[in-house]
Amino acid sequence: MHSTGHHGTVSDVGLLSCPVCRHPLARDGSRVHCREAHSFDIARAGYVNLTLGDGSRRRVGDTAEMVKARAGFLDAGYLDPVCDAVAAAVAAGHPGRGCLAELGSGTGAHLRAAHDRLAQTAPGPPPAWGFDLSKAAASSSARRHRDLGFVVADVESQIPLLDAAAGAVMAAFAPRPAAECARVLAPGGCLVAAFATPRHLERLRRRWNLLSVGEGKLEALSKRLEPWFTAGETQTVEYEIALAPADAERLVAMGPNARHDGLAEPPTETTRERISVTVARFLRQGPTHR
Ligand SMILES: C[S@@+](CC[C@H](N)C(=O)[O-])C[C@H]1O[C@@H](n2cnc3c(N)ncnc32)[C@H](O)[C@@H]1O
Ligand SMILES: [Zn+2]
Repeated sequence: MHSTGHHGTVSDVGLLSCPVCRHPLARDGSRVHCREAHSFDIARAGYVNLTLGDGSRRRVGDTAEMVKARAGFLDAGYLDPVCDAVAAAVAAGHPGRGCLAELGSGTGAHLRAAHDRLAQTAPGPPPAWGFDLSKAAASSSARRHRDLGFVVADVESQIPLLDAAAGAVMAAFAPRPAAECARVLAPGGCLVAAFATPRHLERLRRRWNLLSVGEGKLEALSKRLEPWFTAGETQTVEYEIALAPADAERLVAMGPNARHDGLAEPPTETTRERISVTVARFLRQGPTHR
């Protein structure tokens, strides 16, 4: 790890791969580059931008408003038990070598918690990289967590990590590209996924006519991962929260509904809601199982 005044602290970039040619990246001041001389900026906020800037990206990440709402909601602590469960699953499944990677890392809350958990048990915690398509998310997380690395990248097209570089990949309410997860994970490493069950925030969704959560996510995910992974421990974390009106608005503003209607009539009272999130761990099989 090294630090420069304006560009924050970026973890050792040696595990990152060039999105053009896939060779390893090296750092040179406020840029990173590969041996083919493809070169990318480290932003002042401290994140690395590995998008190709060809203007052809169809997918978009969260907006600055969504990231702000998410940070406020998470800081209020409503999802702390989920965050703890994800961190515990990562700590239990990390094989002791390889970096930690979070896909769709948002504010970096889950990467932070998992890294802290590993630091308690391992003498030298592994390098940690969060990947998000949103510059606003990368910027927010990089400013908050100077000792973790953040990258702007579309993980659905490519996770810019070298083959077998990761000991654990986590994805909380975020994309889980199966083949790419398999490629970047070392045999014996794990993928930890967190996703809402149909019971998650059911009352709130019904009251405001928000997008609902489909059934059968775990089965669908297991099926997609089957060529490379075996299913490990799964738990559903479920509890009631007393949701303050301002936080209900944040919850809507940070999610997919933010791009649709928002709330016609903002809430005025604290309501009881249920959090219901499945945390599932999958084990990356060795090459002989492939
Ligand atoms: C629902 S948020 C979850 C953020 C964080 N994991 C959390 O639990 O607080 C989903 C995040 O995934 C990012 N995202 C969506 N599609 C992506 C993609 N193809 N590649 C990388 N990030 C993506 C969004 O920008 C957003 O920050
Ligand atoms: Zn290159």
